[in-house]
Amino acid sequence: MPESTGLYDHPRYYDLGFSFRDIAAEVDLFEDAFRRFSRIPVRRVLELSCGVAPHMKELARRGYEYAGLDINPNMIAYVTDRAETLGLRPRLELGDMRDFSLPYEVDFVFIMCGSLYVQSTPDMLRHLDSVARALKPGGLYFLDWCINFEWCTAPRTDQTWTIEKEGVKISVQFNLEVADRAEQLARHILTAQVDDGGKKLALESTDIVRVILPQEFLLLVEKSQAFEFIGWWNNWDFTKPIEQAERIDRPIAIIRRM
Ligand SMILES: C[S@@+](CC[C@H](N)C(=O)[O-])C[C@H]1O[C@@H](n2cnc3c(N)ncnc32)[C@H](O)[C@@H]1O
Repeated sequence: MPESTGLYDHPRYYDLGFSFRDIAAEVDLFEDAFRRFSRIPVRRVLELSCGVAPHMKELARRGYEYAGLDINPNMIAYVTDRAETLGLRPRLELGDMRDFSLPYEVDFVFIMCGSLYVQSTPDMLRHLDSVARALKPGGLYFLDWCINFEWCTAPRTDQTWTIEKEGVKISVQFNLEVADRAEQLARHILTAQVDDGGKKLALESTDIVRVILPQEFLLLVEKSQAFEFIGWWNNWDFTKPIEQAERIDRPIAIIRRM
């Protein structure tokens, strides 16, 4: 559970603050991954830590059934309202990605923007077991920015951006600090200054997250006995394997349910 839920308690501001992404291009890449690596046809997809479910509409437009899981009831309520407005009927689950069971199976699981909120090795193994229960054999688990390839460099603390939209100006800052070296824990701090037509808010969400190093990820995947490693790439581009990257920028990884 997040230590404080400031920005996550205001899904509309979160939605605006992260609205810079090219969602259609991201869904194009999912579909490229299905063609390249999935052993099963993809109809139902599950997003973990779905937040405001930015990909729901585009996925539905392309014929996929969307399911989303999040620990924050405000996020689930926001997505429920949005789905109703759009005439969509997604499956939305209030749950913890560290340990969950669903009453149905899915063909593809994804997790965006480093939202892998596990705090220990047992957490990560329980998480992989949970994903294995939900995902059909041959299906892919796609992880965006969840593996820490930059373990030997100082954490970047310069990620700041401002968006003005729908009468709201929002400045977002992402900071990463070391929380516990022995336990390999980092503190993710997301702050936002909001000016909503003159109404000002300062919001902050802090999460403690277990840093997952690349070789450790491979060992954990092997230990789970449920997945095979498919690959990892830089910059959301299947022509850029991590092994050739000079500088890491938004890496992705894919494993497949055995
Ligand atoms: C960075 S945001 C969401 C990212 C979203 N998928 C996107 O692409 O914008 C992180 C979300 O993770 C949720 N979260 C945090 N810890 C969680 C957990 N243990 N299980 C499920 N969701 C969690 C938060 O409530 C928040 O909505």
